[in-house]
Amino acid sequence: MHPDMEKMLFTRAEIDTKVHELGSIISKDYAGQDLLMVGILKGAVVFMADLIRAMSIDVSIDFMALSSYGVSSESTGVVRILKDLDKSIAGRNVLIVEDIIDTGLSMNYLLKILTARNPDSVHICTMLDKPSRRQVNVSVDYNGFTIADQFVAGYGLDYSENYRNLPEIYVLKEEIYK
Ligand code: IMP
Ligand code: MG
Repeated sequence: MHPDMEKMLFTRAEIDTKVHELGSIISKDYAGQDLLMVGILKGAVVFMADLIRAMSIDVSIDFMALSSYGVSSESTGVVRILKDLDKSIAGRNVLIVEDIIDTGLSMNYLLKILTARNPDSVHICTMLDKPSRRQVNVSVDYNGFTIADQFVAGYGLDYSENYRNLPEIYVLKEEIYK
């Protein structure tokens, strides 16, 4: 195990099973419909790459980047678009793909922006959910795992841009981020 990690929270096998479950549910829900999956950079990249390959329907993908924590582990509530979508989403079914929903501030802001662009629908898929930390209500349509209030890394999730490449999901040692 990586020396900065306290413990492994989800193994490769657990993640894989979950991603395939989500992929087949989403494929059923959107069968026969147009679907644009919007990955939120950079954390959702690993999850999204696995999720789209676990789906049996045609999808298109695009990406957005929002400013978030920077080097600290606390949300500031200030969210900015660093990279916008390449194309219009008017009349499309959008599924936002996130790594984790924590306070919900980023997702709340993103929903407002995307809804204003007149898509047919906007739904949310997240690999991890930390509902105990919520500051604004966000309705999550697809969730991989609900976790307690702890700082996690790996499988795309970072602390200060590190650990995204770890294949499993870990709880970070407190001394690393405190
Ligand atoms: P929110 O706006 O507080 O919901 O924060 C969402 C973003 O914060 C996520 O997309 C992650 O980038 C980051 N984040 C929140 N909790 C964690 C964590 O435990 N590990 C790594 N990143 C996190
Ligand atoms: Mg993120």
